[in-house]
Amino acid sequence: MTNHRDLALDAEDVGSNPTQNRTFVDIANARLSRRGALKGLLATAGIAALGTALPGFNEAEAAGADGSTFTFKPLKHGESPSHHVAEGYDVDILIRWGDKVVAGAPEFDVTRQTAAAQEMQFGYNNDFVGFLPFPAGAKTGNHGLLWVNHEYTNTNLMFAGIGSEKDNALKASKEQSDIEIAAHGGSVIEIRKTSGKWAVVPDSKYARRITGTTPISISGPARGHARMKTSADPSGTLALGTFNNCAGGITPWGTVLTAEENFNQYFANAPDTAEYKRLGVAKASSYAWSKYHARFDVAKEPNEPNRFGWLVEVDPFDPGSAPVKRTALGRFKHEGASAVINKDGRIVVYSGDDERFDYVYRFVSAGRYNPNDRKANFSLLDEGTLAVAKFGDDGSIEWLPLVHGQGPLTAANGFNGQTDVCIETRRAADLVGATPMDRPEDVDTNPVTGVVYMALTNNSSRKPEQVNKVNPRPDNRHGQIVEIIPPGSNARDRDHTASKYTWSMFILCGDPKAHGGVYNPAMAEGQWLSCPDNVAFDSKGRIWIGTDGAPTAAKIADGVWATDVSGKGRALPKLFFAAPQDAEICGPWFAPDDQTFFVAIQHPGESSKSTFEEPATRWPDFKAGMPPRPSVIAITKKGGGVLGA
Ligand code: FEO
Ligand code: CA
Ligand code: CA
Repeated sequence: MTNHRDLALDAEDVGSNPTQNRTFVDIANARLSRRGALKGLLATAGIAALGTALPGFNEAEAAGADGSTFTFKPLKHGESPSHHVAEGYDVDILIRWGDKVVAGAPEFDVTRQTAAAQEMQFGYNNDFVGFLPFPAGAKTGNHGLLWVNHEYTNTNLMFAGIGSEKDNALKASKEQSDIEIAAHGGSVIEIRKTSGKWAVVPDSKYARRITGTTPISISGPARGHARMKTSADPSGTLALGTFNNCAGGITPWGTVLTAEENFNQYFANAPDTAEYKRLGVAKASSYAWSKYHARFDVAKEPNEPNRFGWLVEVDPFDPGSAPVKRTALGRFKHEGASAVINKDGRIVVYSGDDERFDYVYRFVSAGRYNPNDRKANFSLLDEGTLAVAKFGDDGSIEWLPLVHGQGPLTAANGFNGQTDVCIETRRAADLVGATPMDRPEDVDTNPVTGVVYMALTNNSSRKPEQVNKVNPRPDNRHGQIVEIIPPGSNARDRDHTASKYTWSMFILCGDPKAHGGVYNPAMAEGQWLSCPDNVAFDSKGRIWIGTDGAPTAAKIADGVWATDVSGKGRALPKLFFAAPQDAEICGPWFAPDDQTFFVAIQHPGESSKSTFEEPATRWPDFKAGMPPRPSVIAITKKGGGVLGA
């Protein structure tokens, strides 16, 4: 999410990490000159170009004169009320806010919305998108289930008469608030491709809405703990709803991990204590909900915020199943989740905490994946070891365990058990000396190389004395993408459980001329990108990067850039798709055959002056009276074929 919801442009906002762990950074040696960064990047590119370290690409695949394997003609920077895709590709709107999801859902009528209707219709501000093919494991990608997150609501673009986004949400009536609560969470839809066109299968038995009131089970160390109990749930085992579901991932057993990010903003009247402040739970809420529902009023329900900020596992194949909050993976502003099977069968989940100066985490399961019994894997994320990353200026990563009783995580510091570590994960990570990062957004693991890619979107609050090699720029308005490299040489033999990794800088974003961006020197003029947020890999291991927050002054839309990760085309982004006005790119996800790219277009028309009556765009319907509608699109090649091939 962007703009007012996370104050990306507010220079006064320095994040909620008061420690910033500067003592762990040798500040004097940490400054990275542009020349130094370039040298590092090229050194890595040089290693990859030898063709031994990162398999998956070879010279034969190189298509362009610049060495890139991508064959499409890149778009140029620009802004537009509508989307644009590279020549030779089609964009189809698959589903929009308000479209029918479950059987019996009413037709969308923007002038007569109700919470009951919204509970059956596609929610607002689609973010993570994950495709699960039929049959499970199929490589064809013509039929399957699509999970979609609904992160937050733009009250003033959903309802008439609210005005501009400033203070808009606080004007919502009870009915409008209930519609917003119903527009959060996620959707499961069944989709099928016929004659090259995708469509939602109507009245599917799998179709499901999960909302802000869906009962969700709490598992892992925090289940049933006193700090999880509320007056509505004295057992501390069943939360109502999931909120601010940002990015996510799919587990090897075909469930969804949906990440609760800026959950704090729904709560009001929190006391001014360190525990609440560390997660931004405050006196003022961005929403009106606490006026109508006591659970969002922290003065009345002090433990309710503890029930949010988790990774939630959903089984999309079982519409009757309760989703589960997996507390062993820690509580913070989870941006996403990348789950991999380690070579020894243990499951590893990477997740970033999207706040300025917050951290990158890893969970390693105690148990092992069972490929022959799907349900046997459902408890794997309840027991294991959570750790947080310390990035060294020497290119090392150390995973620091967050285990009660170890190091400073003892009763002397208020940690009376692993439950406290799970609920106050940020504070635990502060104490062990994690590296404060430039807003960790999406994290994904390359299916070919096994290297993990972390998008650090920006951090305009980083001061010159706070830079280090992995966060090398002060006032970092454009972000960077970092490679997190477990020991090993390919996806099969890397050890995702090792305590020591290495890292390398993949791209320093921004304009190479104006912002110190560092890319492959062969990058064409006008192809730079800013604010990497969501990333996806095709099955060749090439990375497709979605952005959120391209600077207004530069007049470039957010979009999707594609680049190789090795060979001559490494770090050589090409603009494939440009979002409509004021939208960010979410999702994205490839069908297994690489012939469809699902992308979520979030918050079209979200800008300071935009209103329901006069929105910045009316994408995608462009009908008088209809505001913009966040939608999921399917991008295919005209006549079929692999994208970018
Ligand atoms: Fe929801 Fe950090 O983006
Ligand atoms: Ca994001
Ligand atoms: Ca992703």
